[in-house]
Amino acid sequence: MMEAKDNGKKGISRRDALKKMGLFITGAAAFGAHAALTSCDGRKKKRIIFYFTATGNSLYLARQLADNDTELLSIPQMMKLDRHDFEADEIGIVYPIYGHMPPNMVRNFIRLARLTAAYKFAVLTYGMLDFNAAELWDGISQKNGTKFDYINTVMMVDNWLPNFDMAEQIKMNKHIPEQLEKVKSDIGRQRHWVKPANEQARRAHDGFVSFARLDPEVGFLMRSEKYFRITDACVDCAICTEVCPRGNYELTSAGVKTEGDCDFCFACIHNCPQKAIQFVNLPGDPLLAHGEVNPKARYRNEHVSLWSIKNANRQ
Ligand SMILES: Cc1cc2nc3c(=O)[nH]c(=O)nc-3n(C[C@H](O)[C@H](O)[C@H](O)COP(=O)(O)O)c2cc1C
Ligand code: SF4
Ligand code: SF4
Repeated sequence: MMEAKDNGKKGISRRDALKKMGLFITGAAAFGAHAALTSCDGRKKKRIIFYFTATGNSLYLARQLADNDTELLSIPQMMKLDRHDFEADEIGIVYPIYGHMPPNMVRNFIRLARLTAAYKFAVLTYGMLDFNAAELWDGISQKNGTKFDYINTVMMVDNWLPNFDMAEQIKMNKHIPEQLEKVKSDIGRQRHWVKPANEQARRAHDGFVSFARLDPEVGFLMRSEKYFRITDACVDCAICTEVCPRGNYELTSAGVKTEGDCDFCFACIHNCPQKAIQFVNLPGDPLLAHGEVNPKARYRNEHVSLWSIKNANRQ
């Protein structure tokens, strides 16, 4: 895989940074235009891929795992439509891990879903540490009656604002094309495998859950009015009302208001063009006691448009 050369300057452009990370891919590769899947009897195989995304990493990955005949279905849209029965030759799911766990909405989706397919795979995106994320999904999905044959993780930009500066994250080379090729090849040959976890990873996850005061059966389920505030920089563009998978934002005569159960996905905060959505100051909160690292830096995957995020999450 070709990598962009350092331009010798101290600061590098976003485009160069993305090139270094392997995120700037042009042409067919960017859209996953690989050959259509065929079964041994020559019939075209039908693949469905479900996704949940806030800043585009998981949608980008889902697109890369799709061919021209794949149905890409947004989990927030399926939940909105009350659609739970699906049948295909292969069914996949792509989601971002939150505290190594699935987003609460993805948990609810798998609780209600009836997925019929000869081969099922899950690919989880993460930023820095995935610990026992694959094993957790294996347990949660099996408990809800669905067994996935293949579960793997792919490291991408970490959009967790309390600990990471997005300006720094986008400069890191996380070898995404190489990870993607491996996952594509595994899925292409219907590999049966779940990324293993060790005792240390399990302990680290348990430690995080108790430190963050989360219920391991629920994961992140916050209240948006407790964690987010809208500053005077807001220009009433209404983007937040469309990118939130819970529909928690509303334009009112008194300005933008947010309220409701919240996956803590950060679609609102990252996609606000004015950076007008900020974390509330919460000195006693285990996750936000120190606010965020860089309130001036926000992130959306280079290959995914705002329109796509709205389309995925609009309620
Ligand atoms: C609430 C929350 C919790 C997160 N927890 C983890 C984590 O435990 N480990 C990790 O490596 N990344 C974590 N991340 C980062 C995301 O999993 C990662 O950036 C993901 O690729 C974002 O996907 P998206 O762009 O499709 O929304 C977290 C992000 C959020 C918003
Ligand atoms: S996205 Fe930002 S600027 Fe636009 S309405 Fe929402 S808070 Fe205001
Ligand atoms: S309020 Fe923000 S963080 Fe919460 S679910 Fe909506 S978009 Fe995600």
